[in-house]
Amino acid sequence: MENLFFKDDNDRVDGIFKVTGKAKYFAEYELPGLTYGVLVTSTVTKGKITSLDTKAAEKAPGVIAVVSHLNKPSAPLYEQEGGSPMKIFYTNQVFYNGQPIAIVVANTFERATYAASLVKATYEKEDFNTDFEKALADPKAKKLQGQPNYKRGIENAYKTADVQVEQRYVLPIETHNPMELHGIIADWKPADRVTVYAKTQGVKATQNTIANVFKIPAENIQVNSEFVGGGFGMALRTWPLEIATVMASKHIGKPVKLVITRMQMFTMVGNRPAAIQKVGLGATKEGKLTGITHTAFGESSVYENFTEGVVNMAKFMYQCDNVNTAYTIVPVDLGVPIWMRGPGEATGAFALESAIDEMAHALDMDPLDFRIMNDPETDQQRNKPFSSKNIKEAYKLGAEKIGWSNRKNKPGSLVEGPWQTGYGVSVGVFNANRGKASVKGILKADGSLVLQSATSDIGPGTGTGMTLIANKLMDIPVNKITFELGDSSLPPAPSQGGSATLSTIGSAVNDVCLSLKSTIAELAANSNMDATSNFVDVLRKNNLPSIEVTKESQAGKERDNYSMYSFSIHFVQVKVNNLTGVVKVSKIVSVGDSGKIISPKTARSQMIGGAVGGIGMALTEEAVIDHRFGRYINNNFADYHVPVHADVPQIDVIFIDKPDPIINPMGAKGMGEIALIGFSAAVANAVFNATGKRIRTLPITPDKIL
Ligand code: MOS
Repeated sequence: MENLFFKDDNDRVDGIFKVTGKAKYFAEYELPGLTYGVLVTSTVTKGKITSLDTKAAEKAPGVIAVVSHLNKPSAPLYEQEGGSPMKIFYTNQVFYNGQPIAIVVANTFERATYAASLVKATYEKEDFNTDFEKALADPKAKKLQGQPNYKRGIENAYKTADVQVEQRYVLPIETHNPMELHGIIADWKPADRVTVYAKTQGVKATQNTIANVFKIPAENIQVNSEFVGGGFGMALRTWPLEIATVMASKHIGKPVKLVITRMQMFTMVGNRPAAIQKVGLGATKEGKLTGITHTAFGESSVYENFTEGVVNMAKFMYQCDNVNTAYTIVPVDLGVPIWMRGPGEATGAFALESAIDEMAHALDMDPLDFRIMNDPETDQQRNKPFSSKNIKEAYKLGAEKIGWSNRKNKPGSLVEGPWQTGYGVSVGVFNANRGKASVKGILKADGSLVLQSATSDIGPGTGTGMTLIANKLMDIPVNKITFELGDSSLPPAPSQGGSATLSTIGSAVNDVCLSLKSTIAELAANSNMDATSNFVDVLRKNNLPSIEVTKESQAGKERDNYSMYSFSIHFVQVKVNNLTGVVKVSKIVSVGDSGKIISPKTARSQMIGGAVGGIGMALTEEAVIDHRFGRYINNNFADYHVPVHADVPQIDVIFIDKPDPIINPMGAKGMGEIALIGFSAAVANAVFNATGKRIRTLPITPDKIL
């Protein structure tokens, strides 16, 4: 991507691309001979396909092929083993309603869509259950341990405490639904060479999955994914629908494009799993926590186990000598869940941070004072110091900004006409991850720097952050730096997930820049130039059009001595209408404690996006299933409500902006996940403060308020 941006150093490298339509997403690529795939999906929830009549579809105008388990290409497919990803078209088995059972390929999208409607399947149906709560209550239903049980001190110590809180919190299924629909273009060429245009959070991950499934060398596969219209975790894996498309391309020897429908986004690309959690808290009368018990149950699928960090936070977030946690997954007959922004922790934080608020209320304490009183100096779970943690400062700054002093500790105190005002606070926390990545740098005599890595950008602005890191180190103007990504042939990098990209790839950019600088210094010394000479002069003097270096970077051992997390504090003010039950989030202040901020604009955007997602989680988002049929019934944007502009107030973002001395050379910790984690609890806590009603089942819809 050429560098079009930078009227000032706070612009995004891709800003102009995105707002002018120059950014090219996977579905926009036109290949010679391109054909179009449309998926046929199961209309039953569980059972076996007894017949699949594709004759009418095959005879329909423009149809090239119908690929299913009946004629899957001789691709040497994976083995079907339990607890693992679904093998598309491998057997006649149906695991969930809406599962792809065939792909129809035609010379236009409309013809493929019509022909797909002509495919007739018959099934041998089996009993099923898509109701997570029902499975949970059924002693005969399968349950699996999702994470080893954790215990520090006395188990269930809260039960003997002076003051006790014991509550149950319920979270429905939520779906990611980024604006860009999922899909892929696959082009299988002779000699088993494959090019794909993908929507992925990891080009190397996509490359490796295709290599493993089709048993061809990874080098044979070129994955392109320069722009991604939102991922939120759903594009961290290569789904059966993508494998089906590659298979179809192999089958017909032509490129195939598949873009799934909005409805299919609810069943084919995962979701945040439903969860039921119990939190028990015990405290002394003075407000010291003496026991935390966090027990969670999460929905999963019957064919693949999905787990996430639902109970992580309870183990270290508060000073408490007695903590125990348990996490169980409960398979139901739905598609497998997947990480969704702040995966696990966002679910867990809703329960824990609601319970913390309930305890503060039981103690008649300000919930901020209660949190500060129980703030740990060290990580009791790992028995290590935090690499950096500025939570008390974050509490203070956020409280001032939102006007916390206006809050009354007695719920329902602020009333004006039908509107009741309340304030809530919650903490978010996520691992400050750093992985291993390679970056190549090419420093040119024309004064420019090109950086390359097979990383991704699902929206947060990877290229911008990397450019600003290089700009600072190399003193090269930002409009002379290009960062290339989204191409599997570039130096390897992990997927964009777990809030790790800036830390992981940025560190490699750092190392590349330092290496280029030392090469320039050496060249200058060897050619009797001043050590401070400009690199352009040094390269010209040495008759070098460019120099290049590739560096692999990863965290050192020192990291093991510390506990490393990013933190966020969300403050919200809500107004609740006591006639209609409508909750309006009227003010938001999110404070990020995630080390040094490299790119203020993109960092702020992350926090804003997290808050908007948090409003959805708190107030509107719920994927509803009709359990008689095992089908989603609100699988569209009209019925599955995401926040719109009118739902979102001004969002103030504050960063502590203090470098973490351990995490990486920049001192920057990730912040994509903490932007959302905890937010829904802040809203629920504010609703309680406004009305005295404690809503423990998300989303907080008007019917629950009245
Ligand atoms: Mo994130 S849920 O790791 O894309």
